Amino acid sequence: MPRVEPVLERALRRTPLLHLDVAHRGRTRRLGLKLEERGPTGSVKDRSAVGLLRALHDERPFIPGTVVVESTSGNLGLALARLLPSIECVFLAVVDLKTPHATRRELTDRGARVIVVDEPDGQGGYLLSRLRRVGELCAQNPGYRWPNQYENWASPDIHRRTTGPEITEQTGPDLGAVYVPVSTGGTLAGVSAHLREHRPDVAAVAVDVRGSLAVAGSAGRRLIPGIGSSRPSAFLQWPHSYDRAVHVDDIEAIAVCRILAEDVGVVLGGSSGCAVRALLTDLENDRTYGRLPVCLAADGGRKYRDTLYSDDWATEQGIVGEITAAVNQLRSEGLFFDRKHQEH
Ligand SMILES: Cc1ncc(COP(=O)(O)O)c(C=O)c1O
Repeated sequence: MPRVEPVLERALRRTPLLHLDVAHRGRTRRLGLKLEERGPTGSVKDRSAVGLLRALHDERPFIPGTVVVESTSGNLGLALARLLPSIECVFLAVVDLKTPHATRRELTDRGARVIVVDEPDGQGGYLLSRLRRVGELCAQNPGYRWPNQYENWASPDIHRRTTGPEITEQTGPDLGAVYVPVSTGGTLAGVSAHLREHRPDVAAVAVDVRGSLAVAGSAGRRLIPGIGSSRPSAFLQWPHSYDRAVHVDDIEAIAVCRILAEDVGVVLGGSSGCAVRALLTDLENDRTYGRLPVCLAADGGRKYRDTLYSDDWATEQGIVGEITAAVNQLRSEGLFFDRKHQEH
């Protein structure tokens, strides 16, 4: 078996920070996008996967053939599916109907076994059904290892040591606020732990989606994969780990994604659209924290071409009119993203 630690160490990659100008309601501001798409499998979860596997291995070393099972909306799955074969372990991914088909295909291409849960959990998503399935699998197979991204502090810890410091280094004293989309809350908990220790002047904003219970809120229909949760995050406590929580309308977030793609060709995932939408509302209300705001863009949008970016999908969901109206509304407010500046 290859030595696990060097494999995991090599899997970490620094991601760029892209500066854009955004015009909205008569004012133009600069914002930063931390492009996690540039990680090895295209999302912020590349980091979480390294932290979680390292913690499991430290607890009890992996042996060849070890089966690792995890509930995932897709991105953590892709990251685990890349890493586990290189340490001769097997990955069993428990996903759900909202997981994009492209992601499911990529998981199987990478040798993962995929179980698709189709039973809604009664809280606007599938998380509780996925976790029930993971529990059954582990009970039937005592040798299976479960990283448990929802409660394992190795996830926030790796973001405290990598994502947070990268953002503060890439922005310097200009940094005013960081907007982080939440699901398990691991990314935000880690980023804010870094900020609280080294830059207590910087605001940490929790970006959730309407219908999610990740940070308060009430359960309801949710369209965007990756963001939101059917239960409260185990990692996030106000005011310890964030300054404010914002619940974004998913239709508006999809509209922001489409406008960003049209204006500057930056194609982001829906949770990034939520973060940018939350920032726009703050700018509108003059809640600017004075300096440069950064949105954590947790993944790219290519895997959502057949969903969030597709009018056929929107028609199937019965929301094509709502998305068009949201795009028109934002355009009528003068929303326009302008040229890309240098990446740091
Ligand atoms: C696209 C996307 N955005 C945001 C998140 C939220 O990350 P976390 O679970 O660390 O809160 C995830 C997590 O899977 C994600 O895939």
